[in-house]
Order: sequence, then C-alpha cells, then structure tokens
Amino acid sequence: MKIDGTHYRTIWVGEDGWSVRVIDQTRLPHRFEIIRLAGLDDAAAAIRTMRVRGAPLIGATAAYGLALAMREDASESGLDRAHDLLLATRPTAVNLRWALSDMRERLGRTPANQRVEAAYGRAAAIADEDVAMNEAIGGHGLALLRDAAQRKNDASPVNILTHCNAGWLATVDWGTALAPIYKAHDEGLPIHVWVDETRPRNQGASLTAWELGRHGVPHTVIVDNVGGHLMQHGMVDLCIVGTDRTTARGDVCNKIGTYLKALAAADNRVPFYVALPGPSVDWTIEDGIRDVPIEQRDASEVSEISGLTSEGALISVKVTPQGSAAANYAFDVTPARLVTGLITERGVCPASRAGLASLYPQHA
Ligand code: MRU
Repeated sequence: MKIDGTHYRTIWVGEDGWSVRVIDQTRLPHRFEIIRLAGLDDAAAAIRTMRVRGAPLIGATAAYGLALAMREDASESGLDRAHDLLLATRPTAVNLRWALSDMRERLGRTPANQRVEAAYGRAAAIADEDVAMNEAIGGHGLALLRDAAQRKNDASPVNILTHCNAGWLATVDWGTALAPIYKAHDEGLPIHVWVDETRPRNQGASLTAWELGRHGVPHTVIVDNVGGHLMQHGMVDLCIVGTDRTTARGDVCNKIGTYLKALAAADNRVPFYVALPGPSVDWTIEDGIRDVPIEQRDASEVSEISGLTSEGALISVKVTPQGSAAANYAFDVTPARLVTGLITERGVCPASRAGLASLYPQHA
C-alpha cells in the first residue's frame, strides 16, 4: 500500500541484499520508522516485542529470520536452533509454525552450502504468496460488500465493523479483513468502517485507523464496548475480522474481544465474516476452545496505556491503582456456529469442516 505516494510492503530485503527491513509497528501511528533486522536474534526480538505483528506478517518475518540465521550457521543444528527460537516467540498465530515448518523442510533437503540462497528465495516466495492470497481475499470479499450495498435501499455507505488490525500492516500487503474494504473503496462503493480500538494494545485505534486514514477510507474509532449498541440500532451491516488460527472445523481464534462481537452480531442477525489465507488454518485441531494455545502477555499492557503528549512525546501512563492485579489474555475463540462465512483466497465457504474441505480438498 502507499504511504505519502510511496509503495511499501511491511517487510523487504534492504539494498545490501541481505538484511531485512520492517516497519516498527510499536511506534505507529505517531512515528513512521523503519528498522533493520541484521540477524536471527533481531528477527526473533521483532516478533516477540510486536514491532511486527499480525499472523501472516509474523510468518513472513520468521521465514526471513531463518534466512538471516542461515548466514550465521547453516548447519543442521543451526537450522534446528533457529527454528526453535523463532517458534517460541509467540504461541497463537499458526502462520508462524506453518512458515517455519515449510522453511525447515525445504532447507533440510538442501545442501548446507546452498541454504542461504535457498532460504532467501523461499522467504521471498512466502511474502509474494501472502500478497497474492490477500488480494484474492479482497476480490471475494468485495462481492459480499457489493451485495450489502445492493441490499440497502438508499445510497448510504455500507457500515463494516472490524476488530484489531487485519489490514496490510498485519500481512505483507493488502491485509485480510481490510483487503475487501480497500477494493470496495477503490472502485467507488460507499463504505464506512467502525474501528474497534482493541485494548489493551490498541491495534485498531493506532494501526487500523492509521492505515484506513492513509488510504482515504471513511472510518470512526470506537471503544471496544460500543459494537453491540451499534448493531442493536442497525448501524452495522456486516462485521469482517481476521484470525490467528482457524481450526479444521471452522472455530476462529482472533484478538481478544472478537467472540463478544460475534455474540452481539448473532443476536442482531448481523453477518459475521472472517477473512483468512490458507496458512491461517490449523488442520491438526478441531476444537478451538480446547486446543488453541492462548497467549498471555505482560500485565503492564493492561495497567498502562501509551500515547502522544501535546508536546509530541511518546509516553506510557498508568491507568490502574497500585496493587491491583491485571490479566492479559491476548486472544479468544469464536465457535464456528457464530461465523457466517470464511473469506479465503479460494472463495467464501461456511465455517465448518465440510466448508473448508470443499476449498482445500487436499486436507479433507
Ligand atoms: O497480537 P496481534 O496484533 O499480532 O494480533 C493480530 C490479530 O489478532 C489479527 O486480527 C490477526 O492476526 C489477523 S491478521 C491478518
């Protein structure tokens, strides 16, 4: 996507031909800073500290992390060590495991002296495939938005509610949930996006709002508890969210708070869609509530909030009393029965084993 007229992806190889560049998402929306990853430890730290985040981008960063690792030690044990270090950075997004398994499997059958070149080649392909899948998701989701526009009796915008950031910043480009929104906006369909702030880290307020604003998409930031009220008053036509891991039967794990939006949507008969590329499906599990590992992050993300002062300084302030405990569950699981449909790069399907198997028969 473009920032001030320049096209950016969220990850790329620098002019030196080997070090990796990413946008530091912990500084947005107030600072646009590009950082350089010069080795395995840099890549692992960028994922762990959420300088890069969003399931598909975590996967792509891990792939480049393995490429950087191969420059340091391309032996069998070096490959295993790098794989294990990167896999431990964040537990929930299955794209991390997918990208690392894919890379390790290919590099395992490549002679050690060719592994650096092979690793960069495959990491670049993973990034390119992500862009292509997200653009295809955008096309399939666009058809749903056109239908929603047609169902309205007037020329008022289609109101879409989204949670967290499943835009281009969460992927290599385009985004998943936001890809149909960008496509719709670009073809002149009137749309408006309700952006959940997404406490505790505010990926909606800081990242989704920034992305949409840069692209000129009309949007309004709301606190996380507003969605139900809007739905009761007919102010949401559909919800589209992303996912960090969707199980083989269509249970959807996504940023904490997604489940409550799905409940409100079901109660108000608002369609609730989940946009995802194939690598976000975990074919090894069925029951998302039982089997998806839910990341628990530092309590300080709940007890403190960061922002920009009127003097232009980026600071954190404490919002809870000294001594109050805080719990920080980063994801929740929305059961498949609350999901209207899955928007994938291969088309839209029901959130069910049969639905997913119809699009991905190799996993049936
Ligand atoms: O903790 P984060 O910011 O990595 O969580 C991101 C999300 O929950 C996104 O909705 C999800 O990864 C889908 S990204 C296209």
